Amino acid sequence: MMPAPLVDAFGRVHTNLRVSVTDRCNIRCFYCMPAENIRFKPRDELLTFEEIERFVRVVAAMGVDKIRLTGGEPLVRHDLPVLVRKLAEVPGIREVALTTNALLLAEHAAALKEAGLSRLNISLDSLEPETFRRIARRDGLDKVLAGIFAAQKVGFASIKLNAVALRGITEPEVVPLCQFARRHGLEMRFIEFMPLDADGNWDNEQVLTGGRLREIIEAEIGPLVPLVSEDPAQPATDYAFAEGEGRIGFINPVTQPFCHRCNRLRLTAEGQVRNCLFSTEEWDARQLLRGGASDEQLALLVRESVGAKKAGHGINSDKFLKPGRAMYQIGG
Ligand code: 5AD
Ligand code: SF4
Repeated sequence: MMPAPLVDAFGRVHTNLRVSVTDRCNIRCFYCMPAENIRFKPRDELLTFEEIERFVRVVAAMGVDKIRLTGGEPLVRHDLPVLVRKLAEVPGIREVALTTNALLLAEHAAALKEAGLSRLNISLDSLEPETFRRIARRDGLDKVLAGIFAAQKVGFASIKLNAVALRGITEPEVVPLCQFARRHGLEMRFIEFMPLDADGNWDNEQVLTGGRLREIIEAEIGPLVPLVSEDPAQPATDYAFAEGEGRIGFINPVTQPFCHRCNRLRLTAEGQVRNCLFSTEEWDARQLLRGGASDEQLALLVRESVGAKKAGHGINSDKFLKPGRAMYQIGG
């Protein structure tokens, strides 16, 4: 018999798992990582591919059908295509996707495609080498662009570009990013800066809102028309240009929280289950995986985590507590 689906106390059905495969990264975006003195997890604390696969089998039996690999930067983990293939073959899994900064994508695009990767989201905040460096604290724009084109060449379609929208930095990037995406058949998405930076410098003033971005785009490029979403659980609100090609998505976690339609669950690189980016609690799956626990025990742990999920992140509330971990330690 098929075990019951993963429904939380608010009736949200969880079908989407985000798996972080490493906390390491080859750049240092200030909204995610500290500049230095980073203590990465020792490798033996990271789940092995076999452990991740087992976890995915257990949640797939409870209705999870989409997996997204995140990090850190997933492509710094060796042999990632091997994991992609394993997960794509798990019964019930319909889609394995990847979020990457694309610095290493040119090297791995063909193997990823061949392993059965369905979709790619590529982080790209700027097309100006100077601004790229200011955000990422490293160079790398050329490699990212090469990665994007290599992915298109091996046949990845509907690639999404994600830019974190930062007040005072992103404004001059908006139009060039949208035009670049349109020219190359990519969907541009803007994500409001969330309080998940390692330095703890986030404040509301640094958020460039989705509303403001839309104004800029409509004033400088042309009117946008809302699209009906294929997936009602997706965080992005999508628009098409009234004239010409191109789609733009806005992910507005700060000004328009979408927690009420969240269907996502997370597994950190060292095997902790989280029911939210902002959860302050974790459930230790690694201990079970390494301690001879049964699939039923693992399933129960996941159910407990889903059962404890809060209604929303509460970023805008006075009582909001920043999670003790930054983005790179959770998985985007
Ligand atoms: N706020 C919003 N988005 C973030 N990302 C990383 N840190 C933050 C943050 N503090 C984005 C990355 C990437 C995805 C994994 O999450 O740019 O696109
Ligand atoms: Fe690396 Fe992504 Fe964090 Fe940037 S946001 S430092 S690319 S993990």
